[in-house]
Amino acid sequence: MSEYKDTVLVSGGAGYIGTHTAVALIEAGYDVVIIDNFSNSEPTAIEGVEKIVGRKVTFEKVDTCDINALRGVFERHEFSTVIHFAAYKAVGESMHEPLKYYMNNLVSYMNILELMKEFRRPNVLFSSSATVYGDAETLPVTEQTPRQPATSPYGNTKQIAEDILRDCCRAYEGFHGIALRYFNPIGAHPSALIGELPRGVPNNLIPFITQTAAGIRECLSVFGNDYDTPDGTCLRDYIDVLDLAKAHVAAVNRMVDGKMKEKYEIFNVGTGTPVSVLELLNRFIKANGVDVPYKIVARREGDVPAVWADTTLANKELGWKAERDLDDTLRASWNWEKHVRGIK
Ligand code: UFG
Repeated sequence: MSEYKDTVLVSGGAGYIGTHTAVALIEAGYDVVIIDNFSNSEPTAIEGVEKIVGRKVTFEKVDTCDINALRGVFERHEFSTVIHFAAYKAVGESMHEPLKYYMNNLVSYMNILELMKEFRRPNVLFSSSATVYGDAETLPVTEQTPRQPATSPYGNTKQIAEDILRDCCRAYEGFHGIALRYFNPIGAHPSALIGELPRGVPNNLIPFITQTAAGIRECLSVFGNDYDTPDGTCLRDYIDVLDLAKAHVAAVNRMVDGKMKEKYEIFNVGTGTPVSVLELLNRFIKANGVDVPYKIVARREGDVPAVWADTTLANKELGWKAERDLDDTLRASWNWEKHVRGIK
């Protein structure tokens, strides 16, 4: 009998959420097979995972869009479950290069599903996003809150991928799927061995804040302070990546243990607490004792004023809840940036 509870194929496992999830899976008794093409990640991420867990992990450099290469992975490794992280995620870029997003995000995903069907691998966990809710009519959003038409090709790939999974689970016997709708993942592993590694100018708030604190960016632009929110800046639900990783473990357990109530299930993965841009910035400054110059600028196109999660379903069904303290999360983000930049 294997010493492991099961094996999980992690596509995009060298990425930000993938690395943290691989660590959490290993710590929970699973073995992992990680694949990544390093299109938006570095081999050092795999080394970071190995240092944290204290052993080598199985890794193959594979492009999930290449079905023949991917077939080799299915032939060489036994696993019951696939977590599919591999995708492009820059909302703005997707507006200018829609085909790049549709090709990469959907072809890779359909290759995975096709091979799961062919090789009779039963469980797939898909990385969805709160972006599917768009500018929701009621807040917080539950899994039943109607999705709004996607405002970017990136967001559309998430909606389409959810629907593909729903249809596959409905049609194919023995096929099970969970879509986790992530809110805004932030933070890094406390060891500072893994974290988010954006290339070029960051799009997301926390990497921009940490790079400004590190002196790489001159000034943070806060996009709009005239929203209908308490301080006029947007409200988001910032979830620590360690908590997010644990939600994946809980979802994998649910599939592997045969505990799913439907063949296709969706869960919000957030904290349930809205935090404004200025609040997050001020908490970051205070928690780390650093300076972050900022200015208020115009709204960013496509931003919704507010979105945060109702996490009741995940709490109840996955037995999971976000636990990390926001100040600890913000300290971990800064420690990671310092580690990357060699700042003492
Ligand atoms: N923001 C700034 N300045 C910046 C960057 C961001 O003020 O330099 C603000 C944004 O306007 C927004 C908040 O910080 O109000 C969070 O912005 P992020 O870009 O970090 O996150 P988003 O909520 O826009 O994006 C997240 C995910 C995407 C997903 C999107 C849509 O990162 O994958 O939610 O819900 F598509």
